[in-house]
Amino acid sequence: MAQLIGISGSLRAGSFNTALLRTAAQLVPDGTTLDVRTLHGIPLYNGDDEAATGLPEAVVALKDAVAAADGLLLVTPEYNNSLPGVFKNAIDWMSRPAADIKRVFGGKPVAIMGASAGNFGTVLAQAAWLPVLRTLGTTVFTGGRVAVTRSAQAFAPDGTLTDDAMRRQVAQFIANFVVFVERS
Ligand code: FNR
Repeated sequence: MAQLIGISGSLRAGSFNTALLRTAAQLVPDGTTLDVRTLHGIPLYNGDDEAATGLPEAVVALKDAVAAADGLLLVTPEYNNSLPGVFKNAIDWMSRPAADIKRVFGGKPVAIMGASAGNFGTVLAQAAWLPVLRTLGTTVFTGGRVAVTRSAQAFAPDGTLTDDAMRRQVAQFIANFVVFVERS
């Protein structure tokens, strides 16, 4: 039984990416769990704060949850054709101290998906994550892609992904990722 954790890279209450993550959590195969997380409570990284007081509680909790999970799903918005600073900031905190990277990220199966307002569905943000994930020693899942375009039309106001074909694509992506996780 695979235990996954997913992190949405948007802090917005009405975030399409958080809605996409929640959709994925509803569509996991039987026997799989997907723990839905956000970036709330994670401050801006400051090396002085780290030296003075160590890691914030929210960072420690997220690190431990990722370390305990069998696979990690990043659900990323795209900002200016790249990854959002707030999301990278969280992963940067989680990469501290460097001696702990292996415990949290080493060999960890990671999948990326995202939703954007435009026509390209975060493909550039997803690509921008690759060097980060490589640096952290993760094992990136490349067996599919979910890039939700025109999110304002794709999601209902309550966050439901209304497009049936896209829901099937999300379900298939997660099912394929679970197979990848179980083989890793
Ligand atoms: C955007 N948006 C955006 N969309 C896109 O497809 N490509 C891009 O490069 C950008 N750039 C960008 C920069 C900044 C600063 C913002 C705030 C937004 C639009 C973005 O896709 C849209 O706001 C999404 O709704 C953001 O994701 P959440 O918050 O709904 O999860």
